[in-house]
Amino acid sequence: MRLTVNGRHHDLPPSPAVTLLELLRDRLSLTGTKLVCDRGECGACTVQLDGEIVYSCLTLAEACDGSSVLTVEGLSSGGADSALSPLQRAFIAKDAAQCGFCTPGQLIAAHTLLANNPAPTDEEIRAGMSGNLCRCGTYPNILAAIRAVAEGEFEAAPAAGATRAS
Ligand code: FES
Ligand code: FES
Repeated sequence: MRLTVNGRHHDLPPSPAVTLLELLRDRLSLTGTKLVCDRGECGACTVQLDGEIVYSCLTLAEACDGSSVLTVEGLSSGGADSALSPLQRAFIAKDAAQCGFCTPGQLIAAHTLLANNPAPTDEEIRAGMSGNLCRCGTYPNILAAIRAVAEGEFEAAPAAGATRAS
């Protein structure tokens, strides 16, 4: 099967009875996506599949043949803080993570929400994020982080080597 993950193409052997989450974590070593409930209740395993969010613990890998996946590793352009996406920087600045287990899924859900609706109301943010639970209860801070990005408080970092227009 063929899968594109965070823009990188993979040719993979058949993976019967393997979930997309297992494939990402165990075969591609993309351990940012977390396993928590393993039954479609918490959203910790949320990834983007062809532009739509899915619970990767409930998604069979072979059903994704030919698809494109975005995981939390694909949001940043590198390891340095300056390469974090605006959403990632907003989550840090607004203290939207405590234990952090739900955070990768929250980030992918928020990224998808803003891609589809760049100026959401608070109600639209709550509805869009309703499939992602946080046992630490950081919901107000997550909402504040998403709203801050929507309002332009966190701009995308300039690409390496880019010059600022005067
Ligand atoms: S681990 Fe997939 S929904 Fe909870
Ligand atoms: S930050 Fe701990 S579960 Fe959300």
